Amino acid sequence: MQTQTITAQSVAELARDVRAGLTRKGQKELPSKYLYDSVGSALFEVISVLPEYGLTRADERLLRRHSEDIVARLTPPTTVAELGSGSGKKTRWMLEALSRHQHISYCPIEISRAALTMCERELADIDAVSIVGFEREYLDGLLEVAARRRKGEQLLVLFLGSTIGNFEHPADLKFLRQMRETLQAGDALLLGTDLEKPAPQLLDAYDDSLGVTAAFNLNLLARINRELEADFSLEQFEHVARFNQDTGSVEMHIRSRRQQNVSIPAAEFSITFDAGETIWTESSHKYSLKEISRISENAGFRCDSQWIDEEWPFAENLLIAA
Ligand SMILES: C[S@@+](CC[C@H](N)C(=O)[O-])C[C@H]1O[C@@H](n2cnc3c(N)ncnc32)[C@H](O)[C@@H]1O
Repeated sequence: MQTQTITAQSVAELARDVRAGLTRKGQKELPSKYLYDSVGSALFEVISVLPEYGLTRADERLLRRHSEDIVARLTPPTTVAELGSGSGKKTRWMLEALSRHQHISYCPIEISRAALTMCERELADIDAVSIVGFEREYLDGLLEVAARRRKGEQLLVLFLGSTIGNFEHPADLKFLRQMRETLQAGDALLLGTDLEKPAPQLLDAYDDSLGVTAAFNLNLLARINRELEADFSLEQFEHVARFNQDTGSVEMHIRSRRQQNVSIPAAEFSITFDAGETIWTESSHKYSLKEISRISENAGFRCDSQWIDEEWPFAENLLIAA
């Protein structure tokens, strides 16, 4: 096993995005990618084992049961890129199945340095795997991996954990199209998608009884305090999870408990919140099987196979670039 990390970070970009999101007309919002600093990535690991959050266990069950079937449908030699790998724990099933047939280059692409470090450590013991981590945004990283691939190699992109659902419709389709543009015909995408389920079950999953998801969400304000010298008073804000029937998505918001003013010196602005006003921080769309086929085909992929978890409805979709 070998590891190497390629990095890029920018506080200036955080300042620019925070300013744009909090000063926009109407609903204030912050990009969900900023939830994942080192504290956020550690909290996400805890969320993934909470009893209410069945999503990660369903994804893991499918990979554990079907990694051999998935690998049998690929066209080796294969290089693996993973978008938003997180700790990479579930990825072990795929890498172990692949490495029984060939030596594997595995390229996790992560915006969170902490997650990338966890991932590299987690998977370091698999012998026939070389890891090159990219601390990059999804598509920037994928472009770099695609540019490095050897002639004749198939690229397998892993996009697990239903992270695709964090793109608000129709941004998920646009993202899949952009991904398709960086791939060659015959490349594969293994896409994990959480499926529709009753709203109360979903709300529990995003507002657990221990308050870990609340801490994960509020850490975004703490991060802005740490990195942009802001003065958010965390006890004056609260975590809210809502199910939006129109979009079929769970939304996470941060609600101001009272009217208050916050200054963010490193982004050169201050902002007033009304009592009850919210900042929208994340959406998690829940898919129907029909919808997955439709957006995959519209983005230029053929759906080769699907594996479904019945215990916590979740689909692992193997898509081939047409
Ligand atoms: C919902 S978590 C999923 C983690 C893991 N794939 C899983 O299934 O448990 C999303 C991961 O994507 C990363 N991420 C979020 N936005 C990103 C972006 N724009 N570019 C690269 N990574 C990103 C986060 O740091 C986080 O580790």
